[in-house]
Amino acid sequence: MIELCCRNVDAKIIGHENGLELEKEFAAYKDTIASIIASLNQRKDKPGQWLQWMNLGYNEETIWYVKEYASMVKDRFENILVLGIGGSALGGVALSEALLKPYWNLLSDEQREGLPKIFFLDNIDPDTMSGLLDILDLKKTLVNVITKSGSTAEIMSQFMIVKDRLEKELGDNYRYNVVATTDKRTGILRQIAEQEGYKTFVVPDDVGGRFSVFSAVGLLPLALVGIEIDPIVKGIKDMDLALKNTDINENIAAQNALIHYLLDVKKGKNLSVMMPYSSRLKYVSDWYVQLWAESLGKNKDIDGNDVNIGPTPIKALGVTDQHSQIQLYNEGPNNKVINFIRVKEFDNTLEIPNIFEYTGLNYLGGKTINQLLNAEADSTRVALADYQRPTVTITLPKVDGYNVAQLLYMFEVQTAIAGELYGINTFNQPGVEQAKNYTYALMGRAGYEDSARVLQEKMGSV
Ligand code: PA5
Repeated sequence: MIELCCRNVDAKIIGHENGLELEKEFAAYKDTIASIIASLNQRKDKPGQWLQWMNLGYNEETIWYVKEYASMVKDRFENILVLGIGGSALGGVALSEALLKPYWNLLSDEQREGLPKIFFLDNIDPDTMSGLLDILDLKKTLVNVITKSGSTAEIMSQFMIVKDRLEKELGDNYRYNVVATTDKRTGILRQIAEQEGYKTFVVPDDVGGRFSVFSAVGLLPLALVGIEIDPIVKGIKDMDLALKNTDINENIAAQNALIHYLLDVKKGKNLSVMMPYSSRLKYVSDWYVQLWAESLGKNKDIDGNDVNIGPTPIKALGVTDQHSQIQLYNEGPNNKVINFIRVKEFDNTLEIPNIFEYTGLNYLGGKTINQLLNAEADSTRVALADYQRPTVTITLPKVDGYNVAQLLYMFEVQTAIAGELYGINTFNQPGVEQAKNYTYALMGRAGYEDSARVLQEKMGSV
């Protein structure tokens, strides 16, 4: 199981001005946390609560269909092209980067054991899109278009370009190169999929984009490139079981949620840095940034009062960003909590050869890169504590499906608990919808004429 160490948040280590009296705080919030956890678990099956993500690890039917479909098509395609944005893409990117062999798309067919390459088109830059479409042989590409609403402009415009090209190359048979993941009943993509006869998977009801990684949204792309789904499912279930514990002293998601909340409201530390010491976990930070930002950044609380709250998430990578951001984190404003992610055992051990006699280098010879990486994580954490900066450390035994699934599920529960502590609606995103609606208006979508007029006026005055 993954572990959380919150020692370097404690006032005993980093002083009273910046740290928390953890034992006291955990005791003071014991009942509040217990009732939040109990309430999340009681509400999770109720429609409209947006808590169905808590059940995804148990959705055996979807898991079976994902694996079955992946095994049916696995020899037919050289590439998987995922079209999605935000919650439709970030989970798949994070998990595939963590779980595939590094540099997967550069490996030979033999090294990939005949499994497809995978590409996520999660933006609409005309240059990078054209670049990717230039190198993909669409005839040998399975396109997984993912959108819950079925109408997000970025995804649907990507799809319109790709579908047009596929159809020109393959005629009617193009439909066998498309698999759509979308809402069960509603949305334009659902209508198109039914008319055109695409294979479809469902974004379940009451699962928001940023909480959808363990639905077909995230699992299907992984299964299509041969990543084993069963260890992921076991990781979710084991963590779910652990996080059902209502005792804050035993529940790491509750601990980290409370720490972040208290450091924000009591100590003014409202920046949350996610810093894995593992390149394979680099995109977990991107996924976390969306989860934390969209879930907790809200202008109203649940009673409708203006609050404008939310901690700002920041991504960093150890050790790379020690040479970029750490100067600021050590000596700049003391307004952050830094989440270290540390890996105990890497798949590879890379020894540094003892080839130089220089005193400034010979201490490295005979050690491993693994030792150096973790020594840097430890020393940076201690240095931050010297500067009275709070850090928490999450330790993964290994970077594998079981542990990475635990990590992501832990962050989801942590986010839900933090949302309850802040007293906001964790699961809506009116700020995203607003910009989406303005885009529809600007691009001339029917029904958005009034918004277009208002927008033109506002833009004119900028
Ligand atoms: O988390 C979210 O809700 C968003 O990031 C959405 O996933 C993103 O906007 C894409 O929306 P949709 O899946 O409806 O196309």
